[in-house]
Amino acid sequence: MSIHFFVSSSIDFGRGALEDLPGVIGKHGMKSLMLVYDGGVKAAGIADKVIAQIEKTGVSYVIFDGVIPNPTNEVVEEAAKMALEAKVDGFVAVGGGSSIDLAKAVNVLMTNPGPIGAYGGINMVKNACLPLVAIPTTAGTSSEITNVSALIDTEKVIKYVVIDDKITASDVIADPELTRTVPRSVTAATGMDAITHAVESYISNMATPLTEYNALKGLSILYENLPKVCENGDDMDAREQMMLGCIITGFSFSNANLGLVHGIAHTLSAHFGLPHGMANACVLPYVMRYNAENCPEKMADLAGAIGLPLSGDQEKDKYLLADALLELTKKLGIQTLQEQGISRDDFDMLAGDVLNEPVLGFNPRQGITREDILAILDQAY
Ligand SMILES: NC(=O)c1ccc[n+]([C@@H]2O[C@H](COP(=O)([O-])OP(=O)(O)OC[C@H]3O[C@@H](n4cnc5c(N)ncnc54)[C@H](O)[C@@H]3O)[C@@H](O)[C@H]2O)c1
Ligand SMILES: [Zn+2]
Repeated sequence: MSIHFFVSSSIDFGRGALEDLPGVIGKHGMKSLMLVYDGGVKAAGIADKVIAQIEKTGVSYVIFDGVIPNPTNEVVEEAAKMALEAKVDGFVAVGGGSSIDLAKAVNVLMTNPGPIGAYGGINMVKNACLPLVAIPTTAGTSSEITNVSALIDTEKVIKYVVIDDKITASDVIADPELTRTVPRSVTAATGMDAITHAVESYISNMATPLTEYNALKGLSILYENLPKVCENGDDMDAREQMMLGCIITGFSFSNANLGLVHGIAHTLSAHFGLPHGMANACVLPYVMRYNAENCPEKMADLAGAIGLPLSGDQEKDKYLLADALLELTKKLGIQTLQEQGISRDDFDMLAGDVLNEPVLGFNPRQGITREDILAILDQAY
């Protein structure tokens, strides 16, 4: 049986890579582009740096700066209307996962009829998309490298994903300098999201040797460097390693998908707007304890990848990773569900919605029950 592994973007990586933007725009022969970002990226002075590079090319451009965290269908439709009216022939998205995911979704609507909700699921996009240059400013979601766009359907109150190789950014400019201004709490949350991607894709039932290789390497880089960037946001060597770890990890989960942690996080964000990384991080250790029963060898592999001493006794080693992740979340100040404003009264409703999350299909432990999810939420409270 053959395995399928998809990688497509052209990547410019390293400090100062933003200077490559004019060349990338020129390569695609863009005449009119849409630049996408949010208020935080503007306030950090990053949008202006990108605009200065775009202006070197003489290309005309429109700006969509209305990106919100956990972007919704409505915001996608609003930006798409603007892009269609301006007849753009390409996109530059600068920001965290929210800005890049929004640009991917808008790009779908340039060559495919709306509404965007029609493309939820895997390989639902019919026509090829326009060139999209992704410039990440967090480390991160790996959205710059993945074939995924995560969006909120406000009517159904769900977070759903469009997964399709056609939406992958054509080009990535990964310049670690752009992550220097990320506030500490966002650095911690986005870094924990990346760690969750590495762990969940490694144990996914879609994992292959190619995804496993990238997940282990990604995890070891991220686990070593996340505490460093949280301690000192100006540690640019560590910031650079975080961005590298995200790209490597993106190769893994773009192909192997994720699991129960993301199922719970999507439900928490859809109902209560929790930042994606925080929502993952607060349940991650408990879901890993739960999954350890079904994939003890893989849990030991992951523990080994972050340098934990293995005893050789599988019954003990299978919990090492979960314990280390719990310690890490405490050290980084990841908030509990209670601290994030969630009430126990909502647990039953949340558990019901989590059970409907398609991503549960990739989790190594199957047969997940309402009681299992309630127990995890209870531990994360
Ligand atoms: N497509 C994928 O593969 C994928 C994977 C994981 C998560 N996601 C999605 O990505 C979104 C989350 O993205 P995120 O965690 O990167 O956060 P984000 O894009 O929502 O940004 C979080 C906050 O940080 C600010 N910010 C970003 N970069 C900054 C910088 N350099 N300096 C100062 N402030 C900065 C933003 O303005 C925003 O206020 C969620 O919707 C999540 O579902 C997508
Ligand atoms: Zn994620």
